Amino acid sequence: MTTFPDGFLWGAATAPHQIEGNNVNSDFWAAEGAMPGMERSGDACDSYHRYAEDMRLLADAGLTSYRFGIEWARIEPEPGLISRAELAHYRRMIDTALELGLTPVVTLHHFTNPRWFAAEGGWMGERAVDRFRFYAETVTGILDGVPWVCTMNEPNMLAIMTMMARLAASGQQWQSPTVDEGQRPVLPSPDPAIGRRLVEAHHAVRDVVRERTGAKVGWTIANQALVARPGGEERLREIRYEREDLYLDGSKGDDFVGVQSYSSMWVNENGIEPHPVHPDNTLVGTAYRPDALALAVRHTWERTGGTSILVTENGMATDDDSRRIAYTTAALEGLASTVTDGVDVRGYLHWSLLDNYEWGHWAPTFGLIAVDRETFVRTPKPSLAWLGSVARRNGL
Ligand code: NOJ
Repeated sequence: MTTFPDGFLWGAATAPHQIEGNNVNSDFWAAEGAMPGMERSGDACDSYHRYAEDMRLLADAGLTSYRFGIEWARIEPEPGLISRAELAHYRRMIDTALELGLTPVVTLHHFTNPRWFAAEGGWMGERAVDRFRFYAETVTGILDGVPWVCTMNEPNMLAIMTMMARLAASGQQWQSPTVDEGQRPVLPSPDPAIGRRLVEAHHAVRDVVRERTGAKVGWTIANQALVARPGGEERLREIRYEREDLYLDGSKGDDFVGVQSYSSMWVNENGIEPHPVHPDNTLVGTAYRPDALALAVRHTWERTGGTSILVTENGMATDDDSRRIAYTTAALEGLASTVTDGVDVRGYLHWSLLDNYEWGHWAPTFGLIAVDRETFVRTPKPSLAWLGSVARRNGL
């Protein structure tokens, strides 16, 4: 049996906009209405009201941790105007997790911004860092008992979203490069100026949260487990810098870094290869690559010079739950090998607890629990009990 270190966290992750419902003051809610081809989040999973049930299902299965987020647009719907009711809501969520014996891992920003923040120019707006610091300072008041805080989720993806939002604001739309039907377009590399701004915001908030709470503070980076084809090594280094390393370098001095891994991509001398249509692909068109997690963890460990790692997301969009279990088993075997090699991995949080709103689409189901879109009835899948049994044994 492969075992993990004592105290290893086993859990699942969610994000507020993807599960709560009616996040009406956020910029993404506004974009959903404006963008062709996007489904709306609507009531989402109604987890704003059903979070206790969600957490109970997680805890009853044997898992020990829950990663969830606080929605800035709810806390501060207008600049400087703080909703005490919403602060109390998130405090109740933290209390519920603690009562159920779940270690809360709390994300302060998961892709969505208050609309007013977007109107001020978003992350490249003049006051962006101060605005984010003020919000973070405000929420430190409710974080008592939270041992792990993620300032920002996937800043490297947020930077791409910021680029697209800026294009849209100037009346243009991002055109995905032409690819064959069913292929996933390769996203552009984010503008490094946006990346540097996000690093600055992360550091500002990290310091405030650390000073005011005793929490371990870090951020979570999307890792694409890039692998070079012969001759693609140089290009890989450049691309990986723009897409990941700039952000991993921003993790130096953090208490931990969150690794988020799903799949892997090849790089040749011309750049990232579009991934072909293949029957094994996931429902979001990515390659089935459970080995990506170990690659992601090893690169993160090396690049950050040995910063503790929390796997804050890993999972698979599939409607076949047995494939989810097979994928996760293989990913965890890879993770165990990194632990054997001395990497300091503190936990594994599966994406996602629930089938949820995948940023414009409802079809890609990542959940350990199915949610009826009309009644919101939760139906745990076999993968939930399976992951719970891995947690109980602390190993495979
Ligand atoms: C990363 C993001 O943090 C999350 O919001 C998203 O749903 C998953 N990956 C799956 O694509």
